Amino acid sequence: MSTSDMTLTDARVLLHEWVSNPALRHHMESVAACMGSYAEIVQGADRAQWMLAGLLHDLDWERHPTQAEHPRVGVALLRERGVDESVLHAIMAHAPYTGTLRDTAMARHLFAVDELAGFIVACGKVRPDGVATLEPASVRKKLKNASFAAAVSRDDIATGVAELAVNEDAHFARCIAAIASMRDGLAV
Ligand SMILES: [Fe+2]
Ligand SMILES: [Fe+2]
Repeated sequence: MSTSDMTLTDARVLLHEWVSNPALRHHMESVAACMGSYAEIVQGADRAQWMLAGLLHDLDWERHPTQAEHPRVGVALLRERGVDESVLHAIMAHAPYTGTLRDTAMARHLFAVDELAGFIVACGKVRPDGVATLEPASVRKKLKNASFAAAVSRDDIATGVAELAVNEDAHFARCIAAIASMRDGLAV
């Protein structure tokens, strides 16, 4: 079978089983939202699969945060559940230390939206109306402030932009819009 039997609903059941931290759940949903948005404009992208990669990329992070285990433990479980290899490959490749190359569009996009989604959510938290009115220019400005959301890798965000060969503002705007379109904390 070339595609997974796992639906987004199945994925969310698994996510709730493995992840208790609401912020981490929200992070995975926000990455799924960005992946779903990009799947609409990338030729040949299967939107459900791209969203699965986003939704499940940090499945094992809470229980197995070490480089030896994350994301290998999650990927092994998802392989047993029949998740498509293209999704598993992208999940492996979002962690550069695995040595898995970002040699597919899905893998490049997952890497490019992962840290950025976290940063956009952080930007939204310090604004009265959240991400709804957030502008790319404001994201750019905050990126230069090293003490703001200091855990977010600026290098990874820049690498993602370079690998997608996209305009940075357009990339930021797409991810902002994707995250703003979430409903009840879920990617739609
Ligand atoms: Fe991760
Ligand atoms: Fe992540």
